[in-house]
Amino acid sequence: MDIEKLIDQLPKTELHLHIEGTLEPKMMLDLAKRNKVTLPYETVDQVAAAYQFNNLQDFLDVYYQGMSVLIEERDFYDLTWAYLEKVHGDAVRHVEIFFDPQAHMERGVSFETVLGGITSALAEAHRQLEISSKLIMCFLRHLPEEAGYEALECACKHKEHIYAVGLDSSEAGRPPELFSRLFASARDHGFKTVAHAGEEGPAAYIKTALDDLRVSRVDHGNRAFEDPALIARLAQQQTPMTMCPLSNLRLKGISDLTKHPIKRALDAGLLATVNSDDPSYFGGYINDNYRAVAKAVGLTAADIIKLSKNSVIASFLPDGQKQNLL
Ligand code: HPA
Ligand code: ZN
Repeated sequence: MDIEKLIDQLPKTELHLHIEGTLEPKMMLDLAKRNKVTLPYETVDQVAAAYQFNNLQDFLDVYYQGMSVLIEERDFYDLTWAYLEKVHGDAVRHVEIFFDPQAHMERGVSFETVLGGITSALAEAHRQLEISSKLIMCFLRHLPEEAGYEALECACKHKEHIYAVGLDSSEAGRPPELFSRLFASARDHGFKTVAHAGEEGPAAYIKTALDDLRVSRVDHGNRAFEDPALIARLAQQQTPMTMCPLSNLRLKGISDLTKHPIKRALDAGLLATVNSDDPSYFGGYINDNYRAVAKAVGLTAADIIKLSKNSVIASFLPDGQKQNLL
């Protein structure tokens, strides 16, 4: 079977996806109108033209502005449903979705409004599309650790809907260990932990994500390759890495997709996976990421099969459900 068909048909999970990063330009403009929010754009082309980034912060500025149109529960429902319908066509069978409640609460949108919209769409997708899911609540690392406790308290009231906590937003100068106490508290409350590390920050941030935040997965992790001992540890522990090729390209972590480390990761025996991160902003959903990186670095059919299986193994699904997808 050719590689493209394999990518289209293999059952897979998506483990690194910010739901707010699925806001397509058309939906952004429609919601701005519906909610009477003023944006600096009037047309889809103008929105798309703003998606030129030199680094993570450039993107985050546009991302936080874009999400200002999300106000009502049905906005979060519509956003989540559109994503799930889209990846249903990519043979995605299970998703583990990030959301950024602090970015909404600071605009006066309640935690329950956000969670209600997202979880209703996830439940509908389970019924209609047979896509299962888990939710990961991210703390914003550009804010102080103390600011995360309010979100954690909210999450504790909705444990049935939130499986893990994560760490996202601006990475440089904000090492994981700044959030050690918050993550310890989250673990005490029974949440699993993950963290973005080594996207722009150094390999040392991946180590402290493992040692201080006790993460089950590393989100991105590209800069691990600067430390051979760390690569050996990640391979030995089989710590999953949720890599995002088009994101790395668009945020200029790599100058060219041929330089993406996914093949190196597989060759080093890492439990690497392919994901889309913020597909609306970075020009592609999960299968677009598989296709683009496969072509650029020359992935074989065996590599593609391995990556789809890795996505299942790296998920938080119970073993029995993993077996159904392997
Ligand atoms: N990196 C860090 N924080 C984020 C991202 C990302 O790619 N997307 C949304 N928040
Ligand atoms: Zn991310």
